[in-house]
Amino acid sequence: MKLMIVGSGYVGLVAGACLSELGHAIVCVDRDMTKINGLRSGVIPIFEPGLDELILRNAAAGRLTFASDLAELNQGVEAVFIAVGTPPSGIDQSADLSSVYAVARDVARAASSGLVVVTKSTVPVGTGDKIADIMRSTAPALRFRVASNPEFLREGNAIGDFMAPDRIVIGTDDDQASDVLERIYAPLTARGTPLLSTSRRAAELVKYASNCFLATKISFINEVADLCEAVDADIDEVAAGMGLDRRIGSAFLNAGPGYGGSCFPKDCDAMLATAGSNGVKLNVVSSAVAANTARKNAMAMRVLRALGGGAEGKVVAVLGLTFKADTDDVREAPAFALIEGLKKAGVSVRVFDPQGMTHARRMLTDVEFCDSALDACLGADCTVIATEWSEFRALEVKSLARVMRGRTIVDLRNLLDHDTFADEGFIVHRIGRTARLPALPALARGGDPLAAPMAANSEDVSVFGSNAGGSAESALRRRAGGHVGYGVTL
Ligand SMILES: NC(=O)c1ccc[n+]([C@@H]2O[C@H](COP(=O)([O-])OP(=O)(O)OC[C@H]3O[C@@H](n4cnc5c(N)ncnc54)[C@H](O)[C@@H]3O)[C@@H](O)[C@H]2O)c1
Repeated sequence: MKLMIVGSGYVGLVAGACLSELGHAIVCVDRDMTKINGLRSGVIPIFEPGLDELILRNAAAGRLTFASDLAELNQGVEAVFIAVGTPPSGIDQSADLSSVYAVARDVARAASSGLVVVTKSTVPVGTGDKIADIMRSTAPALRFRVASNPEFLREGNAIGDFMAPDRIVIGTDDDQASDVLERIYAPLTARGTPLLSTSRRAAELVKYASNCFLATKISFINEVADLCEAVDADIDEVAAGMGLDRRIGSAFLNAGPGYGGSCFPKDCDAMLATAGSNGVKLNVVSSAVAANTARKNAMAMRVLRALGGGAEGKVVAVLGLTFKADTDDVREAPAFALIEGLKKAGVSVRVFDPQGMTHARRMLTDVEFCDSALDACLGADCTVIATEWSEFRALEVKSLARVMRGRTIVDLRNLLDHDTFADEGFIVHRIGRTARLPALPALARGGDPLAAPMAANSEDVSVFGSNAGGSAESALRRRAGGHVGYGVTL
């Protein structure tokens, strides 16, 4: 089948590459000429594991081509997917649909009758109706169908998710549109992927409801992590115990610095906007959003408390700028709120990310961009793990000890082997773990003179106060006979 995809970003490119791999002839369109020219000469504009190979192979086989306009639309294209961005409007919480509607107008002008227009962009319920209205008023004689086919891929695992999705959702009441979409996905359904047919409106809502649910799961486990810190429990054990319950599942139960990315924050906002304009209150979703905002903003204070004393003149290495590992996407990444908070407090910030540096350079000022993780840690009083990149897990403790000035690590992803670092004299502050200082009972009772000045806010520190950085850290080490084998939770 010949198909067109308009919008060649994370979703459009992955969908185009995967659909061509399934045997379809795909034209990927984007209005960004630089991107299209790059793709034509083999330059892949995003980092997504396996994507470059897939694109190059299918382009070489002639199944995947790139264009900056819709000229080919009336040359045998059976379906056009709209995969342009739907960012926050900037005015309120709603999604900005101007790109989607612009594509609808362009498609109506360029199409010949019989085309199926498919929204793959995440769009609010009722957008399919508006697209149909726009197309009718642009080209009254055109016969076309509009269907919804939301995309559920995760950046970092996008190809696997597209090729073996948990489900394919097709939203249309039109038999011919259904038939076209079923033929497009036949190679996947033949392998057993479930295909769910719904109304167009239900399909539009499935996407938002799914993302809001996952965002809620993350906000929930982050709050449980806070509770763990207060009651001497380990969040990883609690999450493991919850996740084994099949009604709950283990995914999205990793406590951390809060969710980010191009989807959850804007999709939660957009669903709240849709609910608001329909007179419905989504208390659970709005609480999850508020909890996440508070969490992202609280991360800088965690690090400042770990640093101890004044922040002025302190150096912090932030490892990880992308919102998750295995992507170069820095949109709404928790590292940014953290870095802003640190800078405001007078801390010098050195940063490194394996893939996110190019995008981050456009967004961050007054930080030192470094060439490697170790380079970022050079002279640092504290190292913060902000993204769960595997290469950070592999950081060698002796190398860190050699380059860092201090011995404080704040692991916001619970990535590091805490014992290895503790053995080498580091104090590793983790998410969702309470203080464990069995050799220092006075500290645990909160009666130690060391604890008092370290607690930045006695209400949100656990057990004995919040801090073990700087000179406090050395004092702790002295008191423990040169060995501090404890995670201290902030
Ligand atoms: N990124 C994800 O993980 C993900 C997952 C599922 C769904 N989605 C949804 O998919 C949609 C696209 O997201 P993305 O992350 O791929 O966005 P993106 O910003 O990476 O890509 C959008 C592309 O559309 C192009 N574009 C914009 N207007 C255009 C126009 N009028 N004509 C041609 N091209 C145009 C842009 O130049 C850009 O290359 C969004 O609605 C998003 O919510 C994203």
